[in-house]
Amino acid sequence: MSDKHRIYQETLSRIRTVLAGERDEIAVMATVVAELRQAFGHFDWVGFYRVVSPGLLKVGPYQGGHGCLSIPFERGVCGRCAREKATQVVGDVTHLPYHIACSGTTRSEIVVPVCDAGGAVRAVLDIDSDLPEIFDAVDQEALETLAGEVGRACFAFSEIP
Ligand code: SME
Repeated sequence: MSDKHRIYQETLSRIRTVLAGERDEIAVMATVVAELRQAFGHFDWVGFYRVVSPGLLKVGPYQGGHGCLSIPFERGVCGRCAREKATQVVGDVTHLPYHIACSGTTRSEIVVPVCDAGGAVRAVLDIDSDLPEIFDAVDQEALETLAGEVGRACFAFSEIP
């Protein structure tokens, strides 16, 4: 098992323990962000963008430098993730014209959709790194598992505002 795989296993396990039974969106998202940022030194920005109205993402709990506040579904890697309801893995953001640069040092990025029990996208989990080509299938699998659990915890019984 790779170090990365083991760290994800330990981190997800800790998050499940800390958040057992918690359904409050801010408590869940803030805890997930803190645990992920602590787990991996190369996670330079970790945060959620939430769907606050049809076609619009607004920043949620995050750690790192300041993130842009609003992202329409038509814009950025986050918007594309929400629009296509599919994880986006970007090895080098400098080659991606539609990437929104919140920090000049970001080189790679992974964005994972968070869906409710009905399958609608309710948020995205965005992780940026100053290292290029740093996210792979191990990150994607672990973060999609985590995003599924966040979606079920936070959005099982509510509706898009
Ligand atoms: N890079 C993202 C915007 C959010 S910041 O990176 C925190 C995007 O292109 O959607």
